[in-house]
Amino acid sequence: MLTLNEEKRKMEAILTSMVDAVIVFDLDARMIITNKAAENLFMAREGDLIGKKLERIDYSGQIGAMIFEVLRKGNEVFTETTISPGRQIFRVHVVPIKDEAGLIEGAVAVFHDVTDARNFDQMRSEFAGNVSHELRTPLTSIKGFVETLLDGAMENSDTCRRFLSIIEAESDRLTRMIDDLLCLSSIESKERMINPQPVCLNRSIRSILNILGPQISEKNLHVEYVYPPDLPRINADEDLLGQVMINLLDNAIKYTPPEGRILIRCYRRDSRIITTFTDTGVGIPRESIPRVFERFYRVDKARSRHQGGTGLGLAIVKHIVESHGGEVFVESEVGQGSTFSVSFLIA
Ligand SMILES: Nc1ncnc2c1ncn2[C@@H]1O[C@H](COP(=O)(O)OP(=O)(O)O)[C@@H](O)[C@H]1O
Ligand SMILES: [Mg+2]
Repeated sequence: MLTLNEEKRKMEAILTSMVDAVIVFDLDARMIITNKAAENLFMAREGDLIGKKLERIDYSGQIGAMIFEVLRKGNEVFTETTISPGRQIFRVHVVPIKDEAGLIEGAVAVFHDVTDARNFDQMRSEFAGNVSHELRTPLTSIKGFVETLLDGAMENSDTCRRFLSIIEAESDRLTRMIDDLLCLSSIESKERMINPQPVCLNRSIRSILNILGPQISEKNLHVEYVYPPDLPRINADEDLLGQVMINLLDNAIKYTPPEGRILIRCYRRDSRIITTFTDTGVGIPRESIPRVFERFYRVDKARSRHQGGTGLGLAIVKHIVESHGGEVFVESEVGQGSTFSVSFLIA
């Protein structure tokens, strides 16, 4: 059997360690027990809430109404509310305390912070909305061209060929978008295990230069790759590293006019290797710079779409680099060009 004192100490220890704010009210709706989290939530000093009336913590009157209802009717009530002056969202749960005879003696209010969960819900629904919209755009265009073809444009073989190649490009973009979405969600869900090993950046960059060689020569771009002779290996998942490099070089190529220059540089800084892609392209307006890593964000939607972009490339880059413990940076000036940098840890 615990003595009353031990029991009280135990209860206090539990209350103190709780993340949720807990307040016990007596029948007059005065606070008789509060924990540390409650004092923090209502910005009170230790013990300062004890004996105070409800008004001390109830800025909107909403919590008061709940407490009075519980004290009067003896039922449990829930609500979700913001507690000014904070912007957090709390799930507030108030339950009655009854004695052995079932008479109401007071009420306990528990405040559980659900801000992250709600923000996440909102992000998720915005994301689902964006995805649907982005997938619909190429589909609408495909359907439009198919209808025009069926309406008679098919008879002219030049028009027919032109429309079919647009349909092909839009289908390719749809496929890329779905691939990108799957890639993002697999890294995000941690379903795709990251398998970091010492890898050679040189090899990775030479391989992407090979892959994107045709686009480089098509636009007559001058590409230079500069690296120190003793470049250490980095710790990375080779496939994901390739994806980062290809997305950055692909952008540099896409957003640089013909005859432009692209400089790729690797150098060591402390325990990291930094790789930068500098181009002499269109650049990014200052106000857009903080947003380019967001999903589906494009400075110029029409241009990106015309180039077959999905708006997901940089979101994937950031995700992969950060999941390797690295960082991404961008500097850019409209009309001058952009520099994207990624850092990886030395193996
Ligand atoms: N090297 C660059 N130069 C200028 N703008 C760029 C560059 N890289 C990215 N951007 C801008 O950032 C946006 C997002 O890039 P990204 O996520 O790769 O999507 P996408 O290339 O499919 O449009 C691009 O639409 C473009 O507006
Ligand atoms: Mg891109």
